[in-house]
Amino acid sequence: MTTDAQILTALRSAQGGGVSGSELSQQLDISRAAIWARIEELRSFGYDIEASPHRGYRLVSAPDHLHADDLLSRLGKTRTIGRDIRVFQETTSTNDVIEKLARDGVKEGAVVFAESQSKGRGRLGRKWMSPPRKGLWFSLLLRPAMRPSAATQLTIAAAAALSRAIRLHTGLKPEIKWPNDIVIRGKKVAGILTELSAELDKVKYVILGIGVDVNLSAGEFPHEFRKLATSLKIETGQSIDRAELAAEILRELDRDYARICAGQFTAVADEWESQCATLGHNVVIRLGDRQIQGRAESLDVDGALLLRTLHGHLETIIGGDVTLEK
Ligand code: BTN
Repeated sequence: MTTDAQILTALRSAQGGGVSGSELSQQLDISRAAIWARIEELRSFGYDIEASPHRGYRLVSAPDHLHADDLLSRLGKTRTIGRDIRVFQETTSTNDVIEKLARDGVKEGAVVFAESQSKGRGRLGRKWMSPPRKGLWFSLLLRPAMRPSAATQLTIAAAAALSRAIRLHTGLKPEIKWPNDIVIRGKKVAGILTELSAELDKVKYVILGIGVDVNLSAGEFPHEFRKLATSLKIETGQSIDRAELAAEILRELDRDYARICAGQFTAVADEWESQCATLGHNVVIRLGDRQIQGRAESLDVDGALLLRTLHGHLETIIGGDVTLEK
C-alpha cells in the first residue's frame, strides 16, 4: 500500500477519533514532517483532516472524487482484483486504457477508473453515457487460464458480484437480465462489457468494463433513456458514496473471480440464477438481423443461455439483446 493509503487506513480505523503524528510516524516508519507533508497533500485533494495538539489527526470527510490511494485503503487486502488501481479524470474508454496496459504486460487484477469517458461504449456497439463524477466507470484486467468459450463465466460472475455489492451497499434488490444488465424495477442501472483477447484454445486476457449509474438524477438521463434507465440515487432517494461502493464492488468481484479460478462456476451460477429476471420467462432475443423466440431455461457450463425455441429445440445463446415477452 502507498503511504497515503496507509495514512487514510490508519485515520479510518480510528473511527472518528484521532491518531497522533508520532503514532502515524511509528506505524509507517517515516518522519513526522513527512506525515505532515502527506496530510497537506491529502487536504489539497479535498480531504478534510483536522489536526489538534491533543487529539492528533482526524479524518472529518472525504471528497466525492475517486482517488487511487483512497480506493486502495478502503478496499484492503484482496487476492487479485484491485492490487493496482489507477484513476483518470477523463479517458476515451477505460476499456481502451486497460487494453493498452494488458498489451504492456501489466499483471491481472489491475483496475482503471475514469471520472468521465468521452467515448464510453456499451454492448452491441452502443454508446455508454459517462458524465463526470456521476457514476462508476471502470475496467479490470484478468488473465484467467481458460478456454475462450468459457469466458462468459466471467461475465456471469461479474454480474452476480455487481448485483450483490449493490444490494449490500444500498439495501436495494437488483435483478440480473441475461447476460449482464443489472436492473431495478425493470430499469437498467449497470452494465458490463466483456472484451477478450485469445488464441485458438486459450484466453490471453479478458477486460471487464463496468458502468454503474450512481448519482444521476432523472433529468440527467437523455429523454429516450428515462423509461429504460435509472440510478442508485433515484432508487434510494439519496446520494451514494461512490468510493465506498467501488470498494464493495471490487471486493465482491475478487471473491467471485477466486471462485471461478477454483472451478466453482456452479456455485456462482446458482447465485446468478437466483437473482435472474430472465430465466423461466418467454423472451425474444435479437442477434443482429436474426430474432429468436423461446423460453429462457438455464445456463450451460460456460455461462451461455439455453433457450427452448418455439419449435422445441434447445439453442445455446452467447450474445444478443434480450426482451421479456409480455
Ligand atoms: C452495456 O450494458 O452495454 C455495457 C456497458 C459498459 C460500460 C462500461 S463504463 C466503463 C467501461 N468503459 C467503456 O467504454 N465501457 C465500459
